[in-house]
Amino acid sequence: HGSLFVPLTLLLCVVLFQWEVIQRTLNGSQFYTFSVCNVGEREQDNWLRTTFIQRRPSASRVFVELQFIVRDCNSFDGASLTCKETFNLFTSESDADVGTTFRKGQFKKVATIAPDEITSKNELRINTETKVVENLSRKGFYLAFQDIGACIALLSVRVYYKTCPATVKSLASFPETVAGGENQALREVSGVCVENAISEELPRIYCTVDGEWVVPVGQCQCKPGYEEVEDECQECKAGSFKAEASGDKCTPCPANTQELDSGAVVCPCMDGFYRAPNDPPTGPCSGLPSAPRDLVATTSAGKLLLTWSPPEDTGGRTDITYSIECQRCEGMVCQSCGEKIRYEPAGVGLTDTKVSVSELDAHLNYTFTVEAHSGVTVLTSQAVPPANRPPSTSDDNLDVTTYTVLILEKNSVQIKDLVPGTAYLFRVQALSSDGSPGGSSMEEQFETSGTEGNQHGQRSTCFFLKNETSLIHGFCIFLFRKRNSHTRQGPEDTYFSSSEQLKPLKTYVDPHTYEDPNTAVLKFATEIHPSHITKQKVIGAGEFGEVYRGILKVPGRKEVAVAIKTLKPGYTEKQRQDFLSEASIMGQFSHQNIIRLEGVVTKFKHAMIVTEYMENGALDRYLRDHDGEFASFQLVGMLRGIAAGMKYLSDMSYVHRDLAARNILVNNTLECKVSDFGLSRVLEDDPEGTYTTSGGKIPIRWTAPEAIAYRKFTSASDVWSFGIVMWEVMAFGERPYWDMSNHEVMKAINEAFRLPAPMDCPSAVYQLMLQCWLQDRSKRPRFGDIVSLLDKLLRSPDSLKTIADFDPRISIRLPSTSGSDGSPFRSVSEWLESIKMSQYSENFACAGVVTMDQVLQMKNEDIKNIGVRLPGHLKRIAYSILGLKDQTSTLSVFAV
Ligand SMILES: *[C@@H]1O[C@H](CO)[C@@H](O)[C@H](O)[C@H]1NC(C)=O
Ligand SMILES: *[C@@H]1O[C@H](CO)[C@@H](O)[C@H](O)[C@H]1NC(C)=O
Ligand SMILES: *[C@@H]1O[C@H](CO)[C@@H](O)[C@H](O)[C@H]1NC(C)=O
Ligand SMILES: *[C@@H]1O[C@H](CO)[C@@H](O)[C@H](O)[C@H]1NC(C)=O
Ligand SMILES: *[C@@H]1O[C@H](CO)[C@@H](O)[C@H](O)[C@H]1NC(C)=O
Repeated sequence: HGSLFVPLTLLLCVVLFQWEVIQRTLNGSQFYTFSVCNVGEREQDNWLRTTFIQRRPSASRVFVELQFIVRDCNSFDGASLTCKETFNLFTSESDADVGTTFRKGQFKKVATIAPDEITSKNELRINTETKVVENLSRKGFYLAFQDIGACIALLSVRVYYKTCPATVKSLASFPETVAGGENQALREVSGVCVENAISEELPRIYCTVDGEWVVPVGQCQCKPGYEEVEDECQECKAGSFKAEASGDKCTPCPANTQELDSGAVVCPCMDGFYRAPNDPPTGPCSGLPSAPRDLVATTSAGKLLLTWSPPEDTGGRTDITYSIECQRCEGMVCQSCGEKIRYEPAGVGLTDTKVSVSELDAHLNYTFTVEAHSGVTVLTSQAVPPANRPPSTSDDNLDVTTYTVLILEKNSVQIKDLVPGTAYLFRVQALSSDGSPGGSSMEEQFETSGTEGNQHGQRSTCFFLKNETSLIHGFCIFLFRKRNSHTRQGPEDTYFSSSEQLKPLKTYVDPHTYEDPNTAVLKFATEIHPSHITKQKVIGAGEFGEVYRGILKVPGRKEVAVAIKTLKPGYTEKQRQDFLSEASIMGQFSHQNIIRLEGVVTKFKHAMIVTEYMENGALDRYLRDHDGEFASFQLVGMLRGIAAGMKYLSDMSYVHRDLAARNILVNNTLECKVSDFGLSRVLEDDPEGTYTTSGGKIPIRWTAPEAIAYRKFTSASDVWSFGIVMWEVMAFGERPYWDMSNHEVMKAINEAFRLPAPMDCPSAVYQLMLQCWLQDRSKRPRFGDIVSLLDKLLRSPDSLKTIADFDPRISIRLPSTSGSDGSPFRSVSEWLESIKMSQYSENFACAGVVTMDQVLQMKNEDIKNIGVRLPGHLKRIAYSILGLKDQTSTLSVFAV
């Protein structure tokens, strides 16, 4: 049966009743038999018993194989009446060897043994018979043979049990297992995965009574980096990898990856190649796409059409999209076009190599940049010189606001429905058959006659000469209209001019949607007379001028402390409007966690914005100055306030774009308020803003990846920033990502690293941060959820008691961290410098701590004793030492 026969013990039969040991010669070889042959006598009862046979505990079923000879009764003359040709097998269980004691009554009959062939006088016949002894349970047993009057010789007795042999199946090893008996026909056995194999559930297999393994269940699989070779898991060969535990073989490293030594789990990208967040980590790496080519701008049907060719090098990817960046320039001053202009079908995420642009202002120069994006790129770009812009005029007084493009096939045109008494500028541009633009004429000014009252039926006929020598198929006419004195009504006017009972929907209105920003200011802000304002002290410098603390005393009202932002002299009208736009925005908000606008001064020479005064200034600096002075619940209380303010803003569909602790102001009662709403602030105002390759400025370490990559600024990207603010607050104003460069931050985020928990940060708070930093912005919590959760935590202070793991050594691991070359610090001062604690060099030296070995021996008490008193500094030094003990190379990551 393929089973393993295990001899139990050498059998020696000890008790003899009439049996005798006889030496015989069979087939030329000699051996002994136990024999009895009392055939002529009645009532025979002759016993032969074995020695005590110890049982292996799990072997409840043993086999007894007998070899014997039975003599033919007929060969005994006259004995046929009493002669027998069978004998009996008995067994008796016992827990101990009873020696030579023999009690017949203790034996149970197992079987009657009858020969298949009887031995006659001439021929010797050896029989082999196997019997099974079941249900054994005690420590051992005896076998006994009862003769009742036959002539027999017992040649051998073999006693054995069956096992399923130790085996490896399904990459699991199963131990040798004793086969069950009839009361347990199948024994279930659990296996253990072989080295370097794993399995969620341990594989199982059954051992049959016959010692066969059957019906394996489950399977172990080789760990990542290993593959199955003949029941073993062997390391993937160099240049191949296996990412998951599976039955698969190792596969060669994909394109653009580095071939590692044996046992690779993944093949990392070669330098300059990347995997997009959605790329499988097992797939090939791709390069950045090169810039789009052959960007051409043409005008058509009143719109600007930008077309380009795909990048020469797509980096091996198919997910190329394009986005358009627009800058408008006046003189040397350029800024982002904002949301004012329209892109068809869209300004981002384009898959076609064209876009049409409309609602451009005619008196401005525009620069369009087309960026190619792929899953692995942030930005690459090709700038277009501002050649194909709508033409501009240098005459500011003309106040040109709109333009129209007509495409004509003839060389004259009549333009109808013009406003009377208005000057128009015209320019003709040639357009070739493929749509590429040719040269254009000088501008010509024409004026319509009549007065404003008579608006209809006005016509102006203009003729233009065609340049006969050039191959042109159409004319392109730019038509400029001089704006009337009255302001066009936008949809938002209709909306806001609705009567009081029609309560305005709380939706933020971009002041840019007003043609005249001054109108927006007056709509949303109260005009204050300058004589009601007293400036007291300069408290800061804004982009446009000084910021003062002062007093506002409006007659009939209590005087209040205020902050006064001023516009420095010599500003242009444009700067004045940008400056006041912040008031237009702030004036739309009314919430206790949003900085409150008291009013504006616009009707006097020096424009001012007056807001409530926040005694404690910016939150980041405030926390740094009070490092360690607040309990968790106080910090969470601050966060709750900021979240409430942000919920209010997001409910109004306002996206802040620059949420950071430096833009949160703190008042005397520690109420935190969101501030900084300037329209241009993300571009210029923020010292953290970094120019991206498209010329925009983004505070990288506070900004969600999709906002960096695709300018996708939403309330969900504000939530990401809020997560960073949470971290700043819990870390008492620590700089997010310490001294990592913006590039390193982006790389780390892209590789799914996140800021580690600050010291002493409640676990629930850190979990919330991690939620805010989910790559998939739709999965991030909303500000409403955040406020509810923070409220819940504040209501049950116990929930803040579980502290998130803080491990300075693993805080964040990066491919490279500036300042750490992995080599140990050579001196105490070098080390202190690396953690920006150089001011304590002398303290260490005076205390005789001059080697890094001594530093490593220092306890917190020692650090305090040498004169480091500030809790924040104490903490920084202590944790740096903790980190040093483990791994010098990751030190500067957390320490700085
Ligand atoms: C005796 O030997 C012969 C030939 O070697 C063999 O076939 C036979 O089975 C043997 N008999 C016994 C009882 O072993
Ligand atoms: C062994 O035990 C089982 C029940 O435990 C019983 O059904 C069976 O008859 C027994 N066999 C013998 C040979 O005693
Ligand atoms: C637009 O560009 C042209 C040529 O560079 C320049 O002469 C003109 O002044 C610019 N217009 C404005 C409004 O900046
Ligand atoms: C007409 O166009 C051609 C080609 O652009 C140019 O060389 C020629 O000077 C133009 N003629 C006039 C009269 O502008
Ligand atoms: C701080 O702001 C809150 C909310 O606007 C206000 O209730 C509180 O009076 C302010 N505290 C001071 C001292 O101004």
